[in-house]
Amino acid sequence: MSVERTFVMIKPDAVERKLVGEIISRFERKGFRIVALKQLRMTREQAEELYSPHREKPFFKDLVDFATRGPVVVMIVEGNSAVDVVRLMIGSTDGRKAAPGTIRGDYALDIQENVIHASDSRESFEREHRIFFSKEELA
Ligand code: PPS
Repeated sequence: MSVERTFVMIKPDAVERKLVGEIISRFERKGFRIVALKQLRMTREQAEELYSPHREKPFFKDLVDFATRGPVVVMIVEGNSAVDVVRLMIGSTDGRKAAPGTIRGDYALDIQENVIHASDSRESFEREHRIFFSKEELA
């Protein structure tokens, strides 16, 4: 059992659909602590850095367009095995295939407009959270 942190982003489709409270509440009810949280409109540079592992994929430009079309909510979530447990809670990338009971399984029907992003490893967390948070913001 190890207490660790992960990075989560509630995507523009979910902010538009007013799902922010519902999603944060799921993490709190599970027992996670919200270490840092803010709503912002990502710049293209931030979105390109967040999705840099997918730079060569055919959907890269669409993904950046989508991620920057409106405000997102970014947060750092802390708790036991946070990286793996949060990934389980959000479900498979494609909302059509995500299991019911997961966040995408309950709220998404698409592979791009899929409500939420979370780091897939501790290395991704280290890179991703620094795009949005300074050291001073981590309580
Ligand atoms: S991959 O190709 O397996 O590495 O992709 P995956 O890790 O499942 O998804 C990475 C992010 O890219 C988005 N994605 C897509 N967007 C648009 N069109 C298509 N076909 C597509 N496939 C994947 C997907 O929503 C993932 O976003 P995040 O924010 O990481 O969940």
